[in-house]
Amino acid sequence: MAKISRPTSPDTLLTSRRSYSIWAATVASLAKTPRNLDRPRKDVSDLDLAAAVIPEMRRELIELWEAFTLNRAEVSRYLMDPKKEALTYLLGFHLANLARTQGMLRRVEHRMGLISWLREQNRPLHIEDLGCGTGALTFATLDLLFREEKKLPCSVELVDKSKAFLDAAAHGLQQLDPAATLVTRQQRLDEYLERERGKADEANENIVWHQLGYVWNEIAHSPKTSQAMLRHLGQGLKQGRRLITLIEPATQDLARAAQQLRDELCAMGYQALYPCPHSANCPMLERARDWCYSEWEWQQPPLMPKIDRILGIDRHRLGASAYVFVSPDIAMALRTLKNTEGPDAVVVGRPLDEKAARGSRKFNYLLCTDEGLIKEPVDAGPERLRGVVWKRMEKPKVTPVTAQKSKAVRKPQKTRK
Ligand SMILES: C[S@@+](CC[C@H](N)C(=O)[O-])C[C@H]1O[C@@H](n2cnc3c(N)ncnc32)[C@H](O)[C@@H]1O
Repeated sequence: MAKISRPTSPDTLLTSRRSYSIWAATVASLAKTPRNLDRPRKDVSDLDLAAAVIPEMRRELIELWEAFTLNRAEVSRYLMDPKKEALTYLLGFHLANLARTQGMLRRVEHRMGLISWLREQNRPLHIEDLGCGTGALTFATLDLLFREEKKLPCSVELVDKSKAFLDAAAHGLQQLDPAATLVTRQQRLDEYLERERGKADEANENIVWHQLGYVWNEIAHSPKTSQAMLRHLGQGLKQGRRLITLIEPATQDLARAAQQLRDELCAMGYQALYPCPHSANCPMLERARDWCYSEWEWQQPPLMPKIDRILGIDRHRLGASAYVFVSPDIAMALRTLKNTEGPDAVVVGRPLDEKAARGSRKFNYLLCTDEGLIKEPVDAGPERLRGVVWKRMEKPKVTPVTAQKSKAVRKPQKTRK
């Protein structure tokens, strides 16, 4: 039996006080004065105003939630006044997406020291948020980076077809870092990416971080836009100093689409820093019934349970299909810094133990390793969430799940046309 060392449980405070108060200020800047306000608006704090806005936006919150969860393909046809849509998204999704991003980046920091390494660089950081919405991914990244005194020079480019979303994102980010250079581009992604293609050969000394939050599923059906996106992400790889954050829903079909994108990025030359313990093909694509996503416990800020009650959900535990990729030069620098190749094994599932007595509902942990997927029985320790490291101190007795193939044998899959 393998000897296991348990990783410490990750911090659950995934939305800082600062991000919560800036969120409330942005809500207050977008919202009309709520009818149920018992004092003049000027005497009401941003958080009290947000609390009064939430019940008035009940119908919109439910409609947008249903559009995202029941029929995501219809999201683009979802008709709502753009300003109302941005406010609804800010109320219903912004903080949860911010928490998911922070949860993921903290695990990356814990494993590979990415955030500390970035803070030590003498180069400027350029963040490009593609389909930025309310800017949750960029906000979470900068909030974490700026937790220390030392701030690295930073420029942010926000791209979205909706002006209302761009305004909301810019409002929050300006408050977080007034010194950052902020550019907003109200453009369709295919147009923006075409324009960027023309700049492919321009010398650039920046570290470039591409943020893709819940946007791949909205552009994947368009060959023109998705191919332009892949070309764009591959474009800077030769220069190095590239990072990508990818977040998508945790549902089976969309998570598997994200896994395919992960394989394409790795075939291109990116290395998967999170959650994967290797950059060979994703073993969870081998069986149609598997899909990979991450989980986090979230200590929700006070107004969030109010929104969850309207939506009939509980987001104390968050899920998302979530990845961080880096160019090989950054992967090498981090390995040298931490003197580690990264985790041996990562928890990717909790399948029922088929051999256990019927009705006992005993679980196994499904682990992703560079030798394929393996199962380990659940032990008496605290529950391990999907996406956390399972450190093996010695080789476990392997129960093969997928065919065990060596790293060298598992070749990258063909690029999707
Ligand atoms: C689901 S929201 C995600 C927002 C944000 N990235 C996040 O993770 O919270 C998708 C965003 O992508 C934008 N979007 C979708 N397709 C786009 C396109 N083809 N061109 C520009 N923006 C697009 C939408 O306007 C929307 O703001």
